[in-house]
Parts: sequence; C-alpha cells; structure tokens
Amino acid sequence: MNRFITFEGGEGSGKSTQIRLAAQLLRENGIPAILTSEPSGTAIGRKIGAILFDRSHDSMCAETEVLLFFAARAQHVREVISPALAEDKVVLCDRFADATFAYQGSGRRLDMRMLSVLNDYSAQSLKPALTLLFDLPVEAGLARARRRDEKLENPALADRFEREEIDFHNRVREGYLRLSREDPDRFRLIDASGDVETVRKRVSEHLLRFLNRPAQAG
Ligand SMILES: Nc1ncnc2c1ncn2[C@@H]1O[C@H](COP(=O)(O)OP(=O)(O)OP(=O)(O)O)[C@@H](O)[C@H]1O
Ligand SMILES: [Mg+2]
Repeated sequence: MNRFITFEGGEGSGKSTQIRLAAQLLRENGIPAILTSEPSGTAIGRKIGAILFDRSHDSMCAETEVLLFFAARAQHVREVISPALAEDKVVLCDRFADATFAYQGSGRRLDMRMLSVLNDYSAQSLKPALTLLFDLPVEAGLARARRRDEKLENPALADRFEREEIDFHNRVREGYLRLSREDPDRFRLIDASGDVETVRKRVSEHLLRFLNRPAQAG
C-alpha cells in the first residue's frame, strides 16, 4: 500500500512545523515512518537547493529553476522515497510535485502540460496517497516566515521565493487550491490560521483517519 503523504502550502503556512509533530505522532503510535523534504531530502538535493534558494541568483530563469527542482526530485524519489515505501514505511514529505505545479506552473506561469510530463519522468509517476494542503492568507504566511528569518544567524539563508511580490504568492495559493479541487480524494484542506496546537489537532485527525487508527484524546 502506498503511504506516501505530502505537506503542501505557501510560505510560512506551517508545513515544516506540523510535519515534525506528525512524525512524532506516528512514532508514538509505533508506525514506521520517515520524514523527508524537497529539495533537501538527499545530499545532492541539498546542493541543488543551495543554488535554488540563493538570494544572489536573481537572474535565474524559470526553466532553470524548475529543472533543478526536477533534478532534486529524481534523486529524492530513487534514493529515499521509493526505497522507504518498498519497506512499507509511511513517508512524510515536506513539499513535492504539487509545489512545482503551484509555484512554477501557477506562480511563474510555465506550461502545465510540460511540467506534468517532466514531473512523471522525474518522479517515476509516483503520486502521494494523501496531501495535506495548509491554506493561509498570503500576508499572514509571509509575516510568519519573516519573523522566522529574523532569528536566522545568516539572513541570506532566507530564500529567494520569499522575496517575490504578493501577486506571485497569491497565484501560488490559488494554484494550490485549484489542484485540491481537481483531486479531492487525495487532498485535505487544512485551515492553517490557528495556533500551532489547533492546527496540529486538525492534522492528527486526518492522519490517523488515513492510517485507520482511532483518533486520540487531546
Ligand atoms: N500555527 C502557527 N501560528 C503561528 N506561528 C506559526 C504557526 N505554525 C508555524 N509558525 C511559525 O511560523 C514560521 C513558519 O513556519 P514553518 O517554517 O513551519 O512554515 P513552512 O510552511 O515550513 O514555511 P516555508 O514555506 O518557508 O518552508 C516558524 O517560525 C514557525 O515557528
Ligand atoms: Mg518549511
């Protein structure tokens, strides 16, 4: 059974916070799982990510950007995700193909059919069984991300995407919502606007239901 679960959503919507709590929930329930992320789920992907997110790379064209994400995905699927699924582990993945359709398709307006073909090639046509979409007004997510980045030792680590204009982020949000409407069996829309604990409860309910576990108290 494919138990590949992706966490998607715009900047600062709480994906990385919640995926860590989700990994803890699975551990507490004795469910074998791995936590991984794109593009940094492999050593090669981390090097690709350093090129992608570098703030000085203002001149990177959208085609270069998307091909680098696909390169990281090809490595990630073959080296990490597929082997873990083959061992019957749950794979929790922070961003995956939907991010490409939302950011490079809707955000950068690249051709969706082309992205779909390249994505199937990169991901060996692997699809998540469940996708949690964290939805939040763009301004709120960016404000959270900015507060997070202020605490970084090296502010240059705050990534290139956070610097995009608000229209870009609104296109990304709409793109994600369209994807979720097109595939309602796979997507669960999570209202990401509550505090961490409120959102955690929403996520836990969806995960435990998907994994056929009784919901936990608290
Ligand atoms: N529900 C919440 N309410 C308030 N702040 C939150 C909430 N969830 C996460 N945060 C904080 O907001 C910031 C962004 O959260 P997080 O890094 O989890 O988002 P993300 O979706 O992974 O962002 P990115 O798209 O940049 O990777 C962090 O500083 C985090 O501590
Ligand atoms: Mg994150």
